[in-house]
Amino acid sequence: MLFTPLKVGTLTLPNRVLLAPLTRARADTGHMPNALMAEYYSQRATGGLLITECTMVAPGTSAFINEPGIYSDAQIAAWKKVTDAVHAKGGRIFMQIWHAGRAAHPDMNDGAATVSSCATAIEGDIQTANGKVPNAVPHALTAEEIPAIVATYVQGAKNAIAAGFDGVEVHGANGYLIDQFLRDTPNQRTDSYGGALENRARLLFEVLTAVTAAIGSERVGLRLSPLNSYNSMKDSDPMALISYLGEKLNAFNLAYLHVMRADFFGVQKADVLIPAREKYKGVLIGNMGYTAEEAEAAIAAGKLDAVAFGTAFLANPDLPARIQAKAALNTPDADTFYTPGAKGYTDYPSL
Ligand code: PHB
Repeated sequence: MLFTPLKVGTLTLPNRVLLAPLTRARADTGHMPNALMAEYYSQRATGGLLITECTMVAPGTSAFINEPGIYSDAQIAAWKKVTDAVHAKGGRIFMQIWHAGRAAHPDMNDGAATVSSCATAIEGDIQTANGKVPNAVPHALTAEEIPAIVATYVQGAKNAIAAGFDGVEVHGANGYLIDQFLRDTPNQRTDSYGGALENRARLLFEVLTAVTAAIGSERVGLRLSPLNSYNSMKDSDPMALISYLGEKLNAFNLAYLHVMRADFFGVQKADVLIPAREKYKGVLIGNMGYTAEEAEAAIAAGKLDAVAFGTAFLANPDLPARIQAKAALNTPDADTFYTPGAKGYTDYPSL
């Protein structure tokens, strides 16, 4: 089943072994993509679909050192080399478009204030170029400020298409801006963007409406993580959240819905893929800690249509071939996940 083709939007994926979005922190100064990144992604071109690392839709929103952006002409031109390299090897690639919200920090953004649903900081520290500092208290966006935020996602999506991407994945997961509205911790707003599910989902739906209108719904995917407590996130009813979203997302006719099934810290537990599958009628991608065997079984049982592999694909550029051959896998080296240069990035051997 992992090697049964799958239609995603207008693409036909040759297999269902996808590259999950992974922060790799190899961009150049100025949030610029580079030749090393083109090599990294093109090495993995045999994946059914590659999804890039989270990529800034606007300046002033950086949360990680050396993360890439998609808001300038220079970045578009540099990303074009990445998409050309992937396409030259017969691959398909979506860009994950992202606004970090309160997970960004003024020290990484020339003093720019961070924004969120509410004026509540993430607990603990953030790593900046000048060392660790406490997370910043964000400015709570007013309803009047939200259209300009939606516009940054639209511009990012248009820029991604201009850079040759096959589509975009809107990042609605892991405690970044959209998720800061979706979940009731931190979203304690009392206006039309807080409270009831339809209000907390309003920013997400405004972004999806505008982005699908701009580039076509068949080129837009969405990632959600109803359980992940990373970035001080929590929802009082994650199953209700994913059920509601799964149902409502049908109207958008997206390329896919990509659901992280677990919590990085194992605090919040539930089987969110069951309501996701029940409510959502489109292509459903699962992610987080799947072995090839489990992925195969989940697809065969109809629970999912495809699986995105993170660290396994990071460490095995030829992961689909290795799965097909039942070959041994290289072990991911966590010490080089976010370090500069080729080590632990483009030097993992293929079979
Ligand atoms: C991370 O780099 O830790 C990270 C980035 C984006 C995510 C999740 C985790 O969505």
